[in-house]
Amino acid sequence: MIISASTDYRQAAKRRLPPFLFHYADGGSYAEHTLRRNVDDLRDVALRQRVLKDMSSLSLETELFGEKLAMPVALAPVGLAGMYARRGEVQAARAATKKGIPFTLSTVSVCPIAEVAAAVERPIWFQLYVLKDRGFMKHVLKRAKEAGVKTLIFTVDMPVPGARYRDAHSGMSGKNGPMKRMLQAAMHPLWAWDVGVHGRPHDLGNVSDYRGKPTELEDYIAWLGNNFDPAISWKDLEWIREFWDGPMIIKGILDPEDARDAVRFGADGIVVSNHGGRQLDGVPSTARALPAIADAVKGDLTILADSGVRSGLDVVRMIAMGADTALIGRAFIYALATAGEAGVAHLLELFEKEMKVAMTLTGARTIADLSSESLVSSGIAAINQSS
Ligand SMILES: Cc1cc2nc3c(=O)[nH]c(=O)nc-3n(C[C@H](O)[C@H](O)[C@H](O)COP(=O)(O)O)c2cc1C
Repeated sequence: MIISASTDYRQAAKRRLPPFLFHYADGGSYAEHTLRRNVDDLRDVALRQRVLKDMSSLSLETELFGEKLAMPVALAPVGLAGMYARRGEVQAARAATKKGIPFTLSTVSVCPIAEVAAAVERPIWFQLYVLKDRGFMKHVLKRAKEAGVKTLIFTVDMPVPGARYRDAHSGMSGKNGPMKRMLQAAMHPLWAWDVGVHGRPHDLGNVSDYRGKPTELEDYIAWLGNNFDPAISWKDLEWIREFWDGPMIIKGILDPEDARDAVRFGADGIVVSNHGGRQLDGVPSTARALPAIADAVKGDLTILADSGVRSGLDVVRMIAMGADTALIGRAFIYALATAGEAGVAHLLELFEKEMKVAMTLTGARTIADLSSESLVSSGIAAINQSS
């Protein structure tokens, strides 16, 4: 039975998914220190309990880039989300839209932009990687515009991919990968029937659309591996600024200096993120990095934050440390794998309930009331000192 957003969906997803898919989502890079710290450091941020303040009326609503959000949460871009449930990106986008929060489609989604955008009432957000193939970038941006996307998340913390050792063990990558994946699928008939058989085509929808032919999942790592661009710099982002007239958010900021550069560049927002501990292992958790970044740029642009958010309490912590909204990655993927759209909808309800309790007991009636005053100062200081 699913009671806790933070742990039960993960366990349920582990049972339902072939191991190569569970570990692809669950894992991080190298020894996974940053992955663990994201969760542990955030959980250690101590909320400041306040009582007897008549908290009978409470609002979680907020506004971002002219869009109303029912609560300060958005679904993060997750590549291959369509492998976790049948046409998974469509299901997750429906749940987010019905809840009144944004869904972000990854560049490397299974479902192409047009399929997801057509399934929901609210404009989706789109995430773009910096890739060597600028023709692909232009093509996909054009498709995003045609599909009514306004908000673009530009991910910059992947000039090279970090190594994910779990993927080599699980069969997600490596020489015997195809055979391992087939055997694992056969051992997980619910997934095999729902996604393996009925969730096709299993390709990278946006890439296939550009190439004019299906792109097998086999090609996924090879295509991405060949296409990441280590030469990327702020200058390269300028043509995108010219091409894209909607809000542009830079994802993968972990240092106050880079956050100031994002302001100088004219970004509308940043995502303080270490890619969920999937890139450089050993970098600080978001809980450690966020307060200094907020000190540096709060008020100059919108601050989003992710990595380690597993509950509504974690969203409250991120906002109290200076974020305007939190993104959730693995948390929604576990729910999607367990029960599709209904799972994500339920997860978002759990987040909402958890946020309401946390706000009631920290004395915050609105999202704007959450600040460093909502935290026990020693909790944050302890985290910052040990960094
Ligand atoms: C399976 C998986 C795939 C991801 N794919 C992408 C992606 O395509 N683009 C991107 O910008 N970030 C991607 N991310 C990172 C997420 O957007 C987000 O930063 C991260 O999941 C946040 O950490 P959390 O999972 O601990 O919440 C991915 C994360 C996971 C777990």
